[in-house]
Amino acid sequence: MSLAKQNFSNVVEDAINQQVMLEMTASQTYLAIAAYMGSDNVALPGLEKFFNEQSEEEREHAQHLIDYQNKRGGLAVIPSVPAPTSEWASAKNAVESALQLEKDVNKNLLRMESLAEDEHDPQMVNVLRSKYLKEQVDSIAEIAKLMTQLNRGGGEGLGLYLFDQTLLKSGVKGVIGQV
Ligand SMILES: [Fe+2]
Repeated sequence: MSLAKQNFSNVVEDAINQQVMLEMTASQTYLAIAAYMGSDNVALPGLEKFFNEQSEEEREHAQHLIDYQNKRGGLAVIPSVPAPTSEWASAKNAVESALQLEKDVNKNLLRMESLAEDEHDPQMVNVLRSKYLKEQVDSIAEIAKLMTQLNRGGGEGLGLYLFDQTLLKSGVKGVIGQV
């Protein structure tokens, strides 16, 4: 029994482990998208770099949740995650699937927040509201705008090349501005 544990329900403890699983799944999926973008017949270095960074960011989210689980006296369970797809129909299709993934993660964060409220756990609610829900909405807006810019250029040929080169040289803020 943890010495630190106070006002921390099993329901919230399980939900944190579930969220770790989702963050790790997102991390692995972004790693797979980055590998796809870096393959010789796709060769989009801007998107490759972007998704490698996204993958690391998701891994950091999982780490933060593991640290939080320990802080509260819960048991961090490190999950095995399902293997992501390794091929997409197009760059546009891969970015679309990333947007859907971010929305799925957001859905689970919202579910966690109401769960933590039901369990009268204001610390958990605070962590979710101040960090996770904010960052998640920012990520959704960022990928949505990236998607719009990709579509604006036509999503292939020269438009895609220019989009990717801008992403490579100026980063995501250079393509979409601040979110
Ligand atoms: Fe995340």
